[in-house]
Amino acid sequence: MAPPIINHFITFLLHLLLFLIKADSKCQKSYPCRDFHLEFPFTDIDHSKCGLFPVNCNSSHENPLIYLREFPMDLLGKVSDNKFQINDSVLANYFNGGSCNSFANVALPKSPFVSFSYSPNLTTFNCFNPSENVRDYFSRYENLSCDILEIYYKREATEEAPVVIDDVFPGSGCVMNQMPLRTGQNFSGEVFDLFSSSFTLEWNLSEDCHECYYDRGGQCLTNDSNQFYCKRGNVLA
Ligand SMILES: *[C@@H]1O[C@H](CO)[C@@H](O)[C@H](O)[C@H]1NC(C)=O
Ligand SMILES: *[C@@H]1O[C@H](CO)[C@@H](O)[C@H](O)[C@H]1NC(C)=O
Ligand SMILES: *[C@@H]1O[C@H](CO)[C@@H](O)[C@H](O)[C@H]1NC(C)=O
Ligand SMILES: *[C@@H]1O[C@H](CO)[C@@H](O)[C@H](O)[C@H]1NC(C)=O
Ligand SMILES: *[C@@H]1O[C@H](CO)[C@@H](O)[C@H](O)[C@H]1NC(C)=O
Ligand SMILES: *[C@@H]1O[C@H](CO)[C@@H](O)[C@H](O)[C@H]1NC(C)=O
Ligand SMILES: *[C@@H]1O[C@H](CO)[C@@H](O)[C@H](O)[C@H]1NC(C)=O
Repeated sequence: MAPPIINHFITFLLHLLLFLIKADSKCQKSYPCRDFHLEFPFTDIDHSKCGLFPVNCNSSHENPLIYLREFPMDLLGKVSDNKFQINDSVLANYFNGGSCNSFANVALPKSPFVSFSYSPNLTTFNCFNPSENVRDYFSRYENLSCDILEIYYKREATEEAPVVIDDVFPGSGCVMNQMPLRTGQNFSGEVFDLFSSSFTLEWNLSEDCHECYYDRGGQCLTNDSNQFYCKRGNVLA
């Protein structure tokens, strides 16, 4: 049997631990970020558990930095309730250098809770070692050989949304890509001039997640088979 004073101390420690866990699970509904506020699914980087995509608002960097893919991007501002203006400086450098990496780094995060899109955008098909069939299929497209890839695209920005398919047809070795399109200029000259590193990003929460987060005060999570589930509990402070 330990002396009572030690038991008290252990009880105290347990309480402290519980308090800390509780404090950590309290999330604010929004976090101030320069001249706007961050709300779910975004969160302040110091409270990264309180959202899905962290933003660093007080770096020494000129703009807040948003983490949506491997490299952070400049968050220039909030355009509306579900739109940010963003500048991807990594992409800007690829475009300026005419780098084939331009075509490999544009995917937006895929999440069961939130859908993203930027517009306007231009669809390209990036094909590895295209067969005769693939060349025929894209015979009315423009092409660009870029390192190991053959890039097919059409300059006209089409009104109707192109069919989103990851694999153009099975075994083709082609993937579809959508790049932010530069507006207010005629399509001419260098292919990299078609694209813009600065774009408007729009997002929507899925219906499930919106209801879970706003109506039930829960947390949007996925289970082991990557299916949505809402973890109940007072997430909002
Ligand atoms: C933001 O600034 C506060 C106060 O200056 C500091 O405590 C915190 O660590 C900073 N966070 C980041 C991510 O730089
Ligand atoms: C975007 O970033 C690039 C590279 O840092 C920079 O040259 C360009 O001026 C930026 N554009 C905007 C709209 O901030
Ligand atoms: C978001 O929802 C609006 C209205 O339902 C729809 O017009 C828009 O295309 C959606 N955007 C995304 C990125 O899902
Ligand atoms: C490209 O634009 C279309 C039509 O506006 C939209 O449906 C699609 O989600 C956009 N793609 C990306 C990657 O944002
Ligand atoms: C690229 O386009 C040119 C001219 O239209 C065509 O002759 C060539 O076969 C195309 N290359 C590929 C790999 O599709
Ligand atoms: C685009 O092309 C049209 C017709 O060729 C011309 O009238 C217009 O001035 C051009 N715009 C720009 C921004 O170059
Ligand atoms: C995940 O959730 C789905 C939908 O609620 C359910 O059908 C499935 O059995 C769950 N899988 C696991 C491993 O929990």
